[in-house]
Amino acid sequence: MPDTDPASKSMEAIVALCKRRGFVYPASEIYGGINGFWDYGPLGTALKNNIRDHWWKHTVECPPIGPDGEPVSIVGLDSSIIQNPRAWEASGHVGGFSDPMVDCTETKKRYRADQVLVMVSWDVEDGSGDEPNGAIDRLFAFNDSDDKSYALARKKAEKFAKKIGVTVASNPTIWPLTHAEFDGAYQYIVGPDTETPGTLTEPREFNLMFETFVGAIRDDSAKAYLRPETAQGIFLNYKNVLDTMRVKVPFGIAQIGKSFRNEVTPRNFIFRSREFELMELEWFCAPDDSPKWYDFWKHERMRWWESLGVSKSNLVFRDHAEDELAHYSKMCVDIEYKYPFTAPGYGELEGVAHRGCYDLNAHTRGTVNDKSGWKNEFSNAKMEYLDQERQQKAREAGLSKEEINAASKYIPNVIEPASGLTRGVLVLLCEAYTEDESRPSKVFMKFKPRFAPIKAGIFPLVNKDGMPEVAQKLYMGLREKFTCQIDAKQSIGKRYARMDEAGTPYCFTVDGDTLSGGTVTVRDRDSQSQERINIDQVEKFLAEKIGE
Ligand code: GAP
Repeated sequence: MPDTDPASKSMEAIVALCKRRGFVYPASEIYGGINGFWDYGPLGTALKNNIRDHWWKHTVECPPIGPDGEPVSIVGLDSSIIQNPRAWEASGHVGGFSDPMVDCTETKKRYRADQVLVMVSWDVEDGSGDEPNGAIDRLFAFNDSDDKSYALARKKAEKFAKKIGVTVASNPTIWPLTHAEFDGAYQYIVGPDTETPGTLTEPREFNLMFETFVGAIRDDSAKAYLRPETAQGIFLNYKNVLDTMRVKVPFGIAQIGKSFRNEVTPRNFIFRSREFELMELEWFCAPDDSPKWYDFWKHERMRWWESLGVSKSNLVFRDHAEDELAHYSKMCVDIEYKYPFTAPGYGELEGVAHRGCYDLNAHTRGTVNDKSGWKNEFSNAKMEYLDQERQQKAREAGLSKEEINAASKYIPNVIEPASGLTRGVLVLLCEAYTEDESRPSKVFMKFKPRFAPIKAGIFPLVNKDGMPEVAQKLYMGLREKFTCQIDAKQSIGKRYARMDEAGTPYCFTVDGDTLSGGTVTVRDRDSQSQERINIDQVEKFLAEKIGE
């Protein structure tokens, strides 16, 4: 059986197939592209929509069964991408949503400081423990997890080491650029793309929000932001939903939509892009219930990714260390996937964060920003929740008025499962990509049938003798229920090969026996085996297979 371990898959080959088969194209390609932006082609759009619809169905329309055996309560939302900029002040994004960045004054290139490592130029294996004279005068920087950048830095280090009469160790000492030890040592560092030392600036914080202007006047008073997450749109509407829908805590608000981050170093295909889609759920619960719900959503979300056909062995949980928590987060666990570019390690796919009451509080009290002139202006929206069930219980228990209030009024805590829809597309592409020398295409996309962009190919064996008409009739009967493609061009082998690369699970061929006996062949994508079924049974066959 072909290998499903992403470690054995080539990212270059996956990107090439995505372009060749219409999954993902570089944005503005005819103008040389634009770094960090991608367009989803016909098959990529279908795949993305399938994942999106599955999330919406299993989050909003048919939400999971909660710990008490009843379905949990979740409603949907579609909020505006641009909101009042004060929302982003209050949320902490204007002040705190940034990455440390270094610039190269020579090449004008910009790097994320936490992704740059530096290598020493002397041999630490010589046993002396001493650095040779002059060696500390050079440190060579390269991009973390970029093999080419490492090779280049090593070459430069070797050249320099030779000049001062030492050799570079096979495993040279490597430090993160942001390491405190390098304070003051920037003048000695040779940047990833330069030959001379001292061109890298010290790290500076760089805000990731894209700015725009609302209305005709382009000054600070008209400045607005493209949302970097959909979550804030949910918090801004928490009161509206509470007041207009029959929901009570605990409940969730879910939203899918575009988000924008001016990433310093977009990379790894669609893994980190500047425009992407998020699928976010904000789950509002009583503070003392929050540990239970954190645990519930953590496992529920892992189950959901497995339901997409992602193998268990390629997914792991990773708890965040305290120093990597986002500014709003009390606890966070990532669901990680073994991408070809992280293997044998794993990279983030979804974060499940315990946001406490940070956001609802922030939008009530607001934050002070001296520069903006919005000092001391708060939204003043009342985010406090009166829990009537708790109030009733407290009354029945004979508690005092103060005790009843304390037991039943609170700002809900929020558990947030937030996943990248476009990152989910990448995971399914990596997971499905399967090399197989035995077939003409040498590769096929092994999507779980219900997520495949095309569910069935319908082929007349030859484009004559009445076969196209029968194939067309079959197609017309199926097209409302399944995404099908009818194809009469080229040899049957080439048509199968095309469908293998598109990941189409079943192909039905109309041949001479169809005309005489009413049966068609059905070819299974994964096994390449063929069987004959009655043409009247095709719809039932597909319904059973796609539903699995
Ligand atoms: N509201 C919480 C939030 O936005 P996040 O960890 O910053 O949390 C959630 O983002 C998810 O969004 C990530 O787990 C990842 O799947 C996806 N994501 C984040 N930045 C991305 C980017 N630049 N490109 C593609 N996906 C991204």
